[in-house]
Amino acid sequence: MHKLIGHALLSLSLAGMGNAVFAAEQGSDAPSALVNTQPAPVLKNLAAFPIGVAVSAGDERRSLFRKTDQQALINQQFNSLVAGNIMKMRYLHPAEDLFTFDDADALANYAKEHGMILHGHALVWHPDYQVPAWMKNYHGDWDAMLKNHVGQIARHFAGRVASWDVANEVIDENVPAAYRPSLFYQKMGKSYIEKAFIAAHAADPAADLYYNDFNTESVQSKLDFMLGMIDDFKARQIPIHGIGFQMHVDVDYPSIAQIRKSFRAVADRGLKVRISELDVAVNKHKNLKSLTPAVAMAQKARYKEIVTAYLEEVPAAQRGGITVWGLVDGESWLSGFHKRAEWPLLFKDDYTTKPAFDGVVEALTGQ
Ligand code: XIL
Repeated sequence: MHKLIGHALLSLSLAGMGNAVFAAEQGSDAPSALVNTQPAPVLKNLAAFPIGVAVSAGDERRSLFRKTDQQALINQQFNSLVAGNIMKMRYLHPAEDLFTFDDADALANYAKEHGMILHGHALVWHPDYQVPAWMKNYHGDWDAMLKNHVGQIARHFAGRVASWDVANEVIDENVPAAYRPSLFYQKMGKSYIEKAFIAAHAADPAADLYYNDFNTESVQSKLDFMLGMIDDFKARQIPIHGIGFQMHVDVDYPSIAQIRKSFRAVADRGLKVRISELDVAVNKHKNLKSLTPAVAMAQKARYKEIVTAYLEEVPAAQRGGITVWGLVDGESWLSGFHKRAEWPLLFKDDYTTKPAFDGVVEALTGQ
C-alpha cells in the first residue's frame, strides 16, 4: 500500500485548494502519514497513452466539485476524465429545444485546467431511464432529430472533448448476433448507428469516434457481430476511429486468451482500442464480506494481465487509453448494479492504493 498523502499535500499547495484535502485525508492515518512516505508511482507518467477515470460531477452525490478531497488523487494519477453520468443523453438534452451544458462545461473546464483530456460518454444509449422522455414521445422526423441531438452536442464540445462514445451498447446481449431492439432501432433501423457517427464527425471532425460495448471481450458471437459492423462501416467509409471495450470483468472471467483475441481483432482492423470502463469484480458468488488479502492479490494479477494484454496486442499508435470506472471501491457502480459488496477498483476509500494498483504499475513498467 502506498501512502498518497505526500502527493496530496503537494497538489494541495499547487492547486491552492485550502484545507479540504488535508483535513479529509488526515483521518486515522495522520500520524503515519507524517512519518512515511514512500512516494506512490504515478500511473499517468508510466504510460504513453491516456490513463483515465470515470468521475461524478454536477450535483451528483460524489461529484468531484462537492467531494473535493478526491481531486488531489485524481489530479495526481490520471490525465483523462470521463463523466460517469452527466454527459449522457437525458442530462445534456432534457427537452427537444433545450440543451443543458453547464455541468459538463464545468467538467470540461476542470479537465483543461488540470491538463487532462475529456472523453465524451455517450451520444446515443438505449436504457429507458437514459433516453429523455420527450424523445420517447417524439413523432417527428427521427433522422433530423437524431442528427440535431448528436450534432449540437458534438459541436458544443468541439475542441474540448478528445473523443466520443458515439453509440453505446447497440448489440443485444440476449440475442448476441442481433442489433438491440432499442427505441432508436425501432424508429430508424440499424441506420441510426451510422447516422450518429456521420453527424458527430460533421460536427467535430477532429474528435475520435468510438463504438463502445460490454462483453465484446468475452462473448465471441457478440465480438463477431461487432467486427461485422466495423467491416461494414469501413467498407462504406462511415467515420469510426475506435472501439471501447467496457471491460466490466470478473477476476476469473473471461479468459485472458479471449480478451487478447478481442483486442487483436479490433487492432487488426486498424482501429484504436480503448479499455473504457475497467473494473474487476471479485464477489460473483457473494461469499466475501471483505476483500481478503488472497483475493486482493488475485485481483492484482488480473489487472496486471489485462494491462499487459493491452500493451502486447494493441500497437502503440492505436492505444486510445485505459479508463477505470470510478476512483475508490466505495463509489463503484457495481455494488448497486449487482446488489452485493464489491471492491473492483484501484484505490480504497481512504485514497490509499490497493494491490490492484500495483498490478497496473507492474504491467506498465514491464515488471
Ligand atoms: C453506470 C454509472 O456508473 C452509474 O452511476 C449509473 O447509475 C448507470 O450507469 N455501461 C456504461 C456506463 O456504458 O454508462 C454505465 O455507467 C455502466 C455500464
